[in-house]
Amino acid sequence: MVLTKENNKLQHLAIIMDGNGRWATKRGLPRSMGHRKGAEVVKEITRAAGELGIKYLTLYAFSTENWNRSEDEVKTLMGLLRDYLHSDLKEIQENNVRIRFIGERDMLDADISKKMAEIEAETLRNEGMTLCIALSYGSRQEIVSAVKKTAALVKEGDISLNDVDVKLFSDMLYTKGMPDPDLVIRTSGEQRISNYLLWQVAYAEFFFTDVLWPDFNKKILEDIIKDFNARERRYGKA
Ligand code: IPE
Ligand code: IPE
Ligand code: MG
Repeated sequence: MVLTKENNKLQHLAIIMDGNGRWATKRGLPRSMGHRKGAEVVKEITRAAGELGIKYLTLYAFSTENWNRSEDEVKTLMGLLRDYLHSDLKEIQENNVRIRFIGERDMLDADISKKMAEIEAETLRNEGMTLCIALSYGSRQEIVSAVKKTAALVKEGDISLNDVDVKLFSDMLYTKGMPDPDLVIRTSGEQRISNYLLWQVAYAEFFFTDVLWPDFNKKILEDIIKDFNARERRYGKA
């Protein structure tokens, strides 16, 4: 079956874009070249997701733990991020895409977090796909911050302890208002979650591929979605 907007069953796709460094190393190139190629693939896959009728695309661009990489590599990644925010997102924005960011913004340079806030405000009313970019993101940190927000509301008397339920707690997370991911894809052969959307993936399907992110493309995505479409999601029912 050919996948189209009309027969699409996948509402929210989350991707762990991994393998940029190995892609470059395999070619005798500096890791930065892998990140550069990876950024191009981000553009291609964002476009493809829109064409396939996916409503939410969440991309893991930089984790809290990635701050522990060499100063050089962090600098390269932040440079690419600046370019992306200033040029690539421009085109995406024009396609009625709503853009939002999840993660710890205080860690980012001021010009970057300012630009992020601008983009979010400018695209707030767009009704096409939502592109959610996880930047300086760590799921455990997100959960701890949600616990603190919830506790503060109880302490102030704005809510009572009995009001705290799954829905209320979900609304304290950075992903407030977004449905949970239906499918998580991780590239590069690693089979781990690396502090990504721990709460939100409670019932997600997973797909691990050996393809390195810079080699990922629309055709591969379509094949993975076909696999996903054939799965039976039971949610605990018999
Ligand atoms: C993913 O590629 C990009 C980021 C984590 C920022 P990596 O840089 O992790 O590439 P590998 O895993 O070292 O190959
Ligand atoms: C996860 O990849 C984070 C991103 C893709 C942005 P990593 O390459 O940082 O994950 P680990 O360290 O191999 O678990
Ligand atoms: Mg990696």
